[in-house]
Amino acid sequence: PLVTTRDILLDARRGGYAVAAFNIENMEMAQAVIQTATEMRSPVIIQTTPGTVNYAGFDMLRAMVAVEAAKTDMPVAVHLDHGDSYERCAAALNSGYTSVMIDGSKLPYEENIAVTKAVVDLAAKMSVDVEGELGTVGGKEDTHEVKAGEDIYTNPEQAKDFAERTGVHSLAVAIGTAHGFYKGEPKLDFDRLQKIIELVNVPIVLHGASGVPDEAVRHAVGLGVCKVNFATELRAALTKGVREALRDEAVYDPKVFMKLGKKQVAETVKHKILVCGCDNRA
Ligand code: 13P
Ligand code: ZN
Ligand code: NA
Repeated sequence: PLVTTRDILLDARRGGYAVAAFNIENMEMAQAVIQTATEMRSPVIIQTTPGTVNYAGFDMLRAMVAVEAAKTDMPVAVHLDHGDSYERCAAALNSGYTSVMIDGSKLPYEENIAVTKAVVDLAAKMSVDVEGELGTVGGKEDTHEVKAGEDIYTNPEQAKDFAERTGVHSLAVAIGTAHGFYKGEPKLDFDRLQKIIELVNVPIVLHGASGVPDEAVRHAVGLGVCKVNFATELRAALTKGVREALRDEAVYDPKVFMKLGKKQVAETVKHKILVCGCDNRA
């Protein structure tokens, strides 16, 4: 069924695993994620960025996830990823999203606190939990490009202050990951991550996990990360399957080529669920 992220994240923290969160763009991706999570007995978070929301609309995305979630006994949450304003978060909540992120990480510290707290207060009226972000995840965060070297990692003491003052329910941190693929191998600051997890009292979220080696994700989960976000690898998987199908010029039926894209997404999802250790948890 469709649920909030509260129990999903607290169960993950208690169980010492991370729940995998997958960004989707269309019906086929939503189906591939939820069907694979069901096969693997895994709780799952489906999320959409503002870019995807601009493309398909909150109501359409929420409805697609709800239809699939109603067919499974696994907990499924539908989450706004990188909410870019109070108004965007309010629209997600009004549409029935069961979880939201407000990403004020580009704002000055006090402004990030103010907008995050405002979203927390609003979401509380609907018993929905909120993810915040402190520090700068590299790469392209939907519309904002962060250049290498400009990255600002999360300060553990500030993270503690941020969580306490905002009342946020989970926190995305910057420890060297970036959105998208990497040139070479990303170097993650695990000491910083460990410090943050020690000091901060809410579940910690790792963004930018596409292209991060499995061992590094496992290490982060072992240190206590409770949610890991995957977007780019799923988009690439869908496109790979579709591209292969379309090499045959006789193919014109979307059902035919999307089926292959969906299969590639399902394989990627299966692998990431195993890496996060959230299989057989629900
Ligand atoms: P990737 O695209 O690197 O997987 O990042 C996903 C993410 O952080 C979504 O918020
Ligand atoms: Zn992200
Ligand atoms: Na990445």
